Amino acid sequence: MLAYLWLLLPMLAQAAHRVPRSHGSHWNLTPRELASSTALSTDLPTPSASDSPCKRVYLAVQASNAPNDTSDDEPGPRVPAELAYECLNSIPFNQSAAVELLDSMKPYLEWQSTTSYVKDPPEKYAENVQPPYDFWSAFNAVETNVAHGIYEREYDFGWDLYQTTQQALDGHFVYISDVVGKLFRFGRTTPLVSVSEDGKDLPLVYAYTDILVSYAGNSSFKPSHIVQIDGKDTTDFLLDWSQYGAHQDKDALWNDIFYSLAQVSLGGLGTGTGSFTGGSRGRYVYPGPSTTLTFANGSKVVNQNFAKVLVDLSRVESGSDVYQEFLSPRPEDFQQILEVLEAQDGEKIRNDMSTPYHRHHTQTTPAIGYPTPVIRQRSNMNGGYFLDGQEFADVAVLTVADFVSADDRAGRDFQKINSDFIAAALAANKTKLIIDCSANGGGFIVQGYDLFKQLFPSIHPYGASRFRAHEVINELGELFSTPITRGGLETSKVFPWNYHTGLDSDDKKPSSWKQRYGPHPQGPGNDTFTSLIRWDLQDPEIRQFSGGISITGYGALSNITHQPFQPQNIVLVTDGFCASTCELFPEFLREEAGVKTIALGGRPSLDPMQTVGGTKARGALQFSQQIPQQDSNYTALNDYSYLPLARGTAAAVNARDGIRRNDDTQTPYQFLYEPAECKIFYTKQMVMDQSAVWKTVADTVWGHGNACVAGDDSFSGRQGNITAESDGRRPKMWSVRFDFDIKEAWEGLKVETDSDWFGKGDCVMIR
Ligand SMILES: *[C@@H]1O[C@H](CO)[C@@H](O)[C@H](O)[C@H]1NC(C)=O
Ligand SMILES: *[C@@H]1O[C@H](CO)[C@@H](O)[C@H](O)[C@H]1NC(C)=O
Ligand SMILES: *[C@@H]1O[C@H](CO)[C@@H](O)[C@H](O)[C@H]1NC(C)=O
Ligand SMILES: *[C@@H]1O[C@H](CO)[C@@H](O)[C@H](O)[C@H]1NC(C)=O
Ligand SMILES: *[C@@H]1O[C@H](CO)[C@@H](O)[C@H](O)[C@H]1NC(C)=O
Ligand SMILES: *[C@@H]1O[C@H](CO)[C@@H](O)[C@H](O)[C@H]1NC(C)=O
Ligand SMILES: *[C@@H]1O[C@H](CO)[C@@H](O)[C@H](O)[C@H]1NC(C)=O
Ligand SMILES: *[C@@H]1O[C@H](CO)[C@@H](O)[C@H](O)[C@H]1NC(C)=O
Ligand SMILES: *[C@@H]1O[C@H](CO)[C@@H](O)[C@H](O)[C@H]1NC(C)=O
Repeated sequence: MLAYLWLLLPMLAQAAHRVPRSHGSHWNLTPRELASSTALSTDLPTPSASDSPCKRVYLAVQASNAPNDTSDDEPGPRVPAELAYECLNSIPFNQSAAVELLDSMKPYLEWQSTTSYVKDPPEKYAENVQPPYDFWSAFNAVETNVAHGIYEREYDFGWDLYQTTQQALDGHFVYISDVVGKLFRFGRTTPLVSVSEDGKDLPLVYAYTDILVSYAGNSSFKPSHIVQIDGKDTTDFLLDWSQYGAHQDKDALWNDIFYSLAQVSLGGLGTGTGSFTGGSRGRYVYPGPSTTLTFANGSKVVNQNFAKVLVDLSRVESGSDVYQEFLSPRPEDFQQILEVLEAQDGEKIRNDMSTPYHRHHTQTTPAIGYPTPVIRQRSNMNGGYFLDGQEFADVAVLTVADFVSADDRAGRDFQKINSDFIAAALAANKTKLIIDCSANGGGFIVQGYDLFKQLFPSIHPYGASRFRAHEVINELGELFSTPITRGGLETSKVFPWNYHTGLDSDDKKPSSWKQRYGPHPQGPGNDTFTSLIRWDLQDPEIRQFSGGISITGYGALSNITHQPFQPQNIVLVTDGFCASTCELFPEFLREEAGVKTIALGGRPSLDPMQTVGGTKARGALQFSQQIPQQDSNYTALNDYSYLPLARGTAAAVNARDGIRRNDDTQTPYQFLYEPAECKIFYTKQMVMDQSAVWKTVADTVWGHGNACVAGDDSFSGRQGNITAESDGRRPKMWSVRFDFDIKEAWEGLKVETDSDWFGKGDCVMIR
């Protein structure tokens, strides 16, 4: 049942405080109206000066006439960012509560598997990915500040605490303290893109609306790129801003800033219109009162930044009231946590899960900026497309924007859409396959196995992982390796900390918990880890972890043996935003099947880019999932308190490292640097029409153009490092397709990250 608990924290947050939401009427502008201003203007109300900052936020919300409606996905009321920031800064600090919180977090944090490696990473990682970061010393510094009474405001403490996990740049490792995540979300009004003029020149940064306006047919309008943001060089400003993201890879962090069709296709599950506008982790960062954009033509635009109000402040007069009302858990909050935890023993939790799922997903439309699909999942998690044009007659495109599924039906849908599309492509005589994993933050890990096995049924992939060996998992292992029947379910079967579940690195059943546990000292500092674990893909119980499916090529589906495409006729495309389960799937394609990869976008440089830029680990564990049971016979298990659950809006660790076959050093994938065979810059066409991406890719891999600006000699037998320059083949500019819908494109500007949604599945990053 634990695999179904990922939603606990958002559910609790939602139940405790309903959020007033508005319909954001300022978005209802025509392209013409928008064309008259670069930024999307917001008419933010101005409150009176005499009240306390938090009261003024409430008055501003009232003045904005936000409808009193909590039943839909529309964004909450907007107020000036500065006002919300003043409110945050008026909340007094409670030292004793902070001491209690930090203490209570420690048992949860012990699960984090990478702290010793982040502190002392392999040289290539430190050089190409991120410098060393010592999580525990950062955490201890916050603790020292608390002890010495350094913090005066709750927000200073909460922000520092959030930063301790954020700076590890591991998409599974997060603690979003209540003061950071529960009250407001920040944002800017101008979505940006980073595009190359001819596919070869270094990309420049534009306002996305300018790109749309210039396309929409007014030939006298030539968009000017942004040379400065808030008086600082655009690239420098954005490189700094990108480090607030959740990825370790700097090119993936860069892409996360911008408007992306693939992210928008996921609706609220994606990163909205990019972190610059408050999507992704950008929503937690105060962007200042306004943003000044300076364009190459010399003109300047100043836009007020906004905050979205996530809670009902009607009963609040002051910052102290905000503390009492929202940041000081009451007995009933703990009772609620307990009830949800207890529900994990039964079926109840699964039914509860379906509510937020449907709320977020029933009203999806075909992906904006994508061509008409042959088939698609209703939330655009996956879909299949054919390209127009005779030169692409043999190319099929499978989009896999997510490995997530929230219920059994969604899990089976995901599998079936993949298999139906592969069948449809073969029936239409397609011999080549582009797999576009743009925007993919992971999901159910064994769905990654399934898709790989649909493509390569004869390969038995490796996919080993391990936990950090420490006292709590040892106790859980002992406890759950003894079969117990509860609620008709033999729980010993279900948990990964049970040696009866899963196999060892040689695909054998371990003979005892001790054999699975180890512990084995590894890596810098000799931290300890469990033995390697592989999934038992034959085990019918795998459905507990898979969103309800059997895995293709195994068990009930072992009759599927036909390999649909040759590996050289498959190419994997990512935008670097590929994390979690989306690390495993590319790893299998590259290492086990020899499929080549292409990375899109990235920083304005001619250096190579990694295919996978998000967390390369094999299992996220929410804090709530760590405490399935307290048992008087065990000591460490009883150290858990519910306080961190009550005081964070998202709380998770990376619990599992992925380890490559035959790697004696057992270095987690997270710390390997692995560039794609080719990097392609986005162009203006590609950020409006996703099929322009696929045509560029197909033409580069199997056709006559070459859009690679960095990489090796993988494609078409070229020699040496390829760049469009070095091999004389120019990138071909594919125009926006004839049925591109500009009105629909404007709709994409409304999409926002859901404030209370953190993904689901056992291997999904927290966006
Ligand atoms: C808005 O909703 C709250 C809570 O349901 C209710 O108390 C209040 O009266 C409503 N206000 C209006 C203006 O409908
Ligand atoms: C501070 O936190 C403690 C819990 O540690 C609580 O008992 C106390 O009421 C809080 N003080 C205020 C002013 O909220
Ligand atoms: C085209 O752009 C010019 C200059 O920006 C503007 O004056 C004109 O009204 C625009 N025409 C249309 C049809 O939008
Ligand atoms: C300069 O470029 C910006 C951004 O494309 C545009 O909005 C503005 O109208 C331009 N200003 C002039 C004077 O052309
Ligand atoms: C696929 O190829 C076969 C054999 O060449 C041909 O008979 C069939 O019409 C083709 N199907 C399509 C949809 O093009
Ligand atoms: C790890 O332990 C081994 C064996 O005890 C020792 O030889 C090695 O120096 C230790 N490595 C580190 C980095 O502490
Ligand atoms: C494999 O078996 C399943 C279940 O028995 C069946 O539905 C499916 O059609 C079979 N597929 C093939 C390719 O034989
Ligand atoms: C604790 O251990 C004892 C002895 O092994 C056993 O009889 C008892 O059932 C255990 N208690 C619990 C709550 O599991
Ligand atoms: C390829 O690029 C690498 C790194 O930039 C460089 O060291 C190497 O000399 C290049 N090889 C060729 C054949 O140009």
